Amino acid sequence: MNRPDSLVSRPLHGRVLPATVLATVLALGACGGGSPGETRDIAATRERAQSNIDVERVSAVELMDWAARTYPQFFTGPTVDGTAAPYVYRHFQGSGNYVGLDGDLVYVLGPPFGNVPLLVGRVGDFECSVRLATCTAPSIKTPPAAREALEGRAAGFAVDVEGGPSLAYQWFRNDVALPGATAATLSLPAVTLADQGARFSVKVSNAKGEQTSAAATLTVAPRVEPAALLALMARHGCSTCHTTSSVRLVGPGLADVGDRYAPTADAISYIASRIRFGSSGQWGGSMPGQPGVNLADARAIAAGILGLSTPCVPEVTTNVVGACR
Ligand code: HEC
Repeated sequence: MNRPDSLVSRPLHGRVLPATVLATVLALGACGGGSPGETRDIAATRERAQSNIDVERVSAVELMDWAARTYPQFFTGPTVDGTAAPYVYRHFQGSGNYVGLDGDLVYVLGPPFGNVPLLVGRVGDFECSVRLATCTAPSIKTPPAAREALEGRAAGFAVDVEGGPSLAYQWFRNDVALPGATAATLSLPAVTLADQGARFSVKVSNAKGEQTSAAATLTVAPRVEPAALLALMARHGCSTCHTTSSVRLVGPGLADVGDRYAPTADAISYIASRIRFGSSGQWGGSMPGQPGVNLADARAIAAGILGLSTPCVPEVTTNVVGACR
């Protein structure tokens, strides 16, 4: 049988598993009502647990009671609650297994778990399961929005969800789960031409249910180098009014234009349409539309202008415009 000190003396082996893992790890056993083991005085445990985790959230005791109710085949028999720094633990003597907390981290220990503390998630990951009655299934309020990005630059997607707690996220690219993409937002540090047209969606789940968002399309504009941009500007007569630096002629320096629009989700289309149809009031002036510029050239110029901007990782939001970080 494991001694309590094995909770502290054994290496953690870095076995970090996702939120639903306790259910997955334990699902092999039969599910049933089961009665919680005999409980000894747990005041010390409660105090310790509440100093470690948000009191508004599920307590160590609630969590351990839930584990015993839900997985009696693993957590049964007389119980001993105790602390062995950094853990608050409950030893289920009938089955010989432990549930332990190190601050916000939840571990199980015992023969079925390989006899090393197995990290099964954070306290918040279990909140919905433990308090099922007050938990609601996620419902997607705002799905991720379509994005345009310049090749080599960052792009990101976000989703707005109602419901919870204990929301788990999994992002998909063209319906294939992206490994490790399990946060509320998805950040792509540098998109490539292979990402052109890729569709990104997210599945949000908790113990009450799950919902998968509609997919948002990523449009990637190929990089246009400064020399190519200057050639396009010369061909279309832009150079009399614009520089590619911050120097203002009749119109704003295009490096400043790039900086202003780089963090926005639709920068390529926006700039291209301003070039073709004109702009006024954005920079204290007015530019007539340039109908001689076809859409392909306008988009290439827009890509060139964005390429002049200082690289920035836009804040990922469901809104069109994010601030640069
Ligand atoms: C006759 C001078 C003139 C010419 C020619 C000209 N522009 Fe402009 N451009 C301006 C002015 C003035 C503004 C500022 C308009 C404003 O304040 O909204 C401007 C604004 C812009 C903007 C910013 C638009 C926005 O909404 O922020 C872009 C991009 C731009 N020009 C690109 C071009 C390109 C590309 C060409 C060539 C196809 C071109 N311009 C030709 C004068 C010109």
